[in-house]
Amino acid sequence: MPPSPKERIEQLRTEIARHEDLYRNRAAPEISDFEFDMLVEELKALEKAHPQFAAKDSPTEQVGEDHTAGFTRVAHKAPMLSLENTYNEGELREFDKRLKKLLGTDGQMNYVVEPKIDGVAVNLTYEHGKFVRAVTRGNGAQGDDITRNVKNIRGIPLALKGEVPALLEVRGEIYMTAGEFARVNHEQELAGQPAFKNPRNLAAGTVKLLDPAQAAERELSIVLYGLGACQPEGFFESQSAFQNWLKENAFPVVPWWGKARGIDEAWALVQKLDTLRHGFAFATDGAVVKLDETALQHRAGLLPKFPRWAKAYKYAPETAQTKLNGIIIQVGRTGILAPVADLEPVDLEGSTIARATLHNEDEIRKKDIRIGDTVKIEKAGEVIPAVIEVILEKRPDGAKPFSLFEHVHGHCPACGGQIKREENFAAWKCLNPQCPPQVAQRLEFFCARRALDIEGVGQTVAVALTHKHIVREPLDLFEIDGETLAAVNIGDETSPRLLGENGRKIAAACERAKTLPLSRWLFAIGIPNVGETISKELTRHFSSLEQMRTSELLQKISTRPALELQKSELPKSDRPARKVLSEQIEQIKQQAKAENITDEIGPEVCLSLQGYLNSEEGARFLARLEKLGIHPQSDNRVQHGEVTGPLVGKGFVLTGTLPTWTRDQAKAIIEKKGGRVLSSVSKKTDFLLAGEEAGSKFAKAQELGVEIISQEDFLTRWGS
Ligand code: IVH
Repeated sequence: MPPSPKERIEQLRTEIARHEDLYRNRAAPEISDFEFDMLVEELKALEKAHPQFAAKDSPTEQVGEDHTAGFTRVAHKAPMLSLENTYNEGELREFDKRLKKLLGTDGQMNYVVEPKIDGVAVNLTYEHGKFVRAVTRGNGAQGDDITRNVKNIRGIPLALKGEVPALLEVRGEIYMTAGEFARVNHEQELAGQPAFKNPRNLAAGTVKLLDPAQAAERELSIVLYGLGACQPEGFFESQSAFQNWLKENAFPVVPWWGKARGIDEAWALVQKLDTLRHGFAFATDGAVVKLDETALQHRAGLLPKFPRWAKAYKYAPETAQTKLNGIIIQVGRTGILAPVADLEPVDLEGSTIARATLHNEDEIRKKDIRIGDTVKIEKAGEVIPAVIEVILEKRPDGAKPFSLFEHVHGHCPACGGQIKREENFAAWKCLNPQCPPQVAQRLEFFCARRALDIEGVGQTVAVALTHKHIVREPLDLFEIDGETLAAVNIGDETSPRLLGENGRKIAAACERAKTLPLSRWLFAIGIPNVGETISKELTRHFSSLEQMRTSELLQKISTRPALELQKSELPKSDRPARKVLSEQIEQIKQQAKAENITDEIGPEVCLSLQGYLNSEEGARFLARLEKLGIHPQSDNRVQHGEVTGPLVGKGFVLTGTLPTWTRDQAKAIIEKKGGRVLSSVSKKTDFLLAGEEAGSKFAKAQELGVEIISQEDFLTRWGS
């Protein structure tokens, strides 16, 4: 039975509130803006049809909230409202009709049509022509003072020229360009960190960083378009005059806006904007139609959430159809074979798309994507387009279901080596550790900032060094002198480019790397499941790779799933045998606990770690380290009783952005006090140190009853 209108309204309110929270407070949206708007539209329609169920606290009546602990709250002089949206031409015409009625006129209205920027709203205040502060929208009445972070943004005029209003609020949007977004994500990747999903979330997270120096590492941009409070009030007679004034005063402004007389002309401009907007530096998701004259805007007035004098027309996300010419298989650092769609180039949202991600073989099967198919692709706010579906009617005769194994003729497409698909694993893997793309990516990873920090070995250099067989495995780098590296050609034969000074720097960085702690070396190897946190945790208990290789406890932990499986396969009646297995499992758990080994070091980690260290490749690595005389210093301070402090034995998990500490600083502070930082929340976590835009860990901690504390709480209890 379909839900009653009342039930559906309640469902929608809960759903919308959840998605608002994910989007605003956790920077982790689960659905696209378009899908979100569709939920709101459905709710609005239901509330309109059933006014008896209207409620003051409905999301359709509220402006959200974005306060971050650690930022000062500042009241806006004029409210920062939202805009009423539509995806429908008819509703835009309705808006025009309503305005005419409201203002009691039959004549044509003067409108301004502007791009709707998909950024982070900001309010800049000028007093007597001097820039004084920047504040987020917040709840519309008051927001967070982000002046320190905004000061890094280029282009904001600090002093206005000529005759200026005594008080002026200028509204705009902060955004991140696609180029900067790609740069930041590349850095994330090198650091072994997950990529940010889209530029808007990253920009929102960046303005709310409590450490301005950290915020300054990411380049933000700004565009201004709106008038807030102004004294004297009639200083700007229209939106178009205000736009011109912004430009004269060197504010960064939208590259295009237009004036229209009447809704027909406005509609034509909305459509024209759709053809221009993909060339802009910022992302846009619609057009805003505004009544031009300020005096008329005042007469039209405001609703609690929106002005009556403006309306946003949102463009539905664009999709395109194109032919899937083939499926390219890319080999990743760990040998995973990733299928990528090779598409007949097609224009989508202003760029030519020839590639789209296909995730893995299971995804391809689920959508039944076949080579030769016509497929529908969509960008939907994300950077990498995705194949959404197949247009079955256009399937050519003879198109065959996709099999990755057959597609690559049973061999790695890069090296011809053996491939394997592990049980319960969606991806195929190349088993040859010498496979060239794997070797190059391993070298790049090895040299990344958070690994051994050998600056100068980025993608290009790593590919050149490995393809020329100067480096066959990362440790080779330690046996090449600076002069040899300087003479390496990283260009090609026709346009050579020598490594030069960078080569000497690489050699010097290798010398420095020799003294880095064991955890950095362990992380640098790039063993699957052994990331930064796990590496640190492991090196607290083991003071060498050799100890990890031979640890009986780690070996036992890795057998746990097999024991559990055995137990589950025994008939319920075989109590004695089940009991023996239960005891064995419990014993392993107890032993791990007694040795202070957290749940993070689980079976998968142990299997992967010991699997590598005991493999031929691992043995070679260990022997080579020995030969090179590299003995990474252990971080194993707990075992030597060197760690004291109020937090000994306490496990912390970090989430979100903290007021003034970066993640690394927080880690260092906790560790200095004897505590540990773990990567995921479990029952054994003592504290979740949560900042703004906390992620799913927050909910998990709540669920498990883990104590959640802020940076402030931390400082009060344990000092800095
Ligand atoms: S006018 C009171 N113009 O979109 C009038 N807003 O979804 C409200 N936005 O709150 C704003 N581009 O943060 C206006 N050209 C534009 C805009 C724009 C983006 C943002 C703004 C607004 C939100 C509503």
